[in-house]
Amino acid sequence: MPEKSHTIRYTEVADPEQLPETDQELLAAATAALPNSYSPYSRFKVAAAARLQDGTVVAAANTENAAYPMCICAEPNAMAAAAALRPGMPVEAMAITVKAPAQTLSTPASPCGSCRQILSEHEGRFGHSMRLIMRGETGPVYVFDRAGDLLPFGFSGELL
Ligand code: THU
Repeated sequence: MPEKSHTIRYTEVADPEQLPETDQELLAAATAALPNSYSPYSRFKVAAAARLQDGTVVAAANTENAAYPMCICAEPNAMAAAAALRPGMPVEAMAITVKAPAQTLSTPASPCGSCRQILSEHEGRFGHSMRLIMRGETGPVYVFDRAGDLLPFGFSGELL
């Protein structure tokens, strides 16, 4: 039986100042949105900033609920804000960052599985890649060329 493998490529950027300016701006927009997090239950703040095709940047943070499964992650919150602001326009890049309550996270924040599904579908829908820029509170930045790279073998509407 043939054994197969799947490689995920990303860039580790040691210092955010080494990033292209547009990425730095997007990361700064995400960081600026961290105080908007409504996270009284986990006290874990996540923020995401989306850059649309026309250059508009829209940022949002996670929004929790006493009924825990209804918590809204930062990434879909930013995607919904982008869709409301510019319906039908692809998101070209998203920066994601976090602030944990009890420790300074120095590893990049990575979207949860459900968020990956949403970002991946957006890429398929618009036939456009979404660059992902991820960082903890400090430390290196991970850059992915495509959100779908984070979801190998993801469920796709092509099967329906
Ligand atoms: N969270 C996000 O906002 N995005 C993710 O990709 C992972 C988790 C939020 C949900 C919840 O409010 C808090 O982080 C702790 O799970």
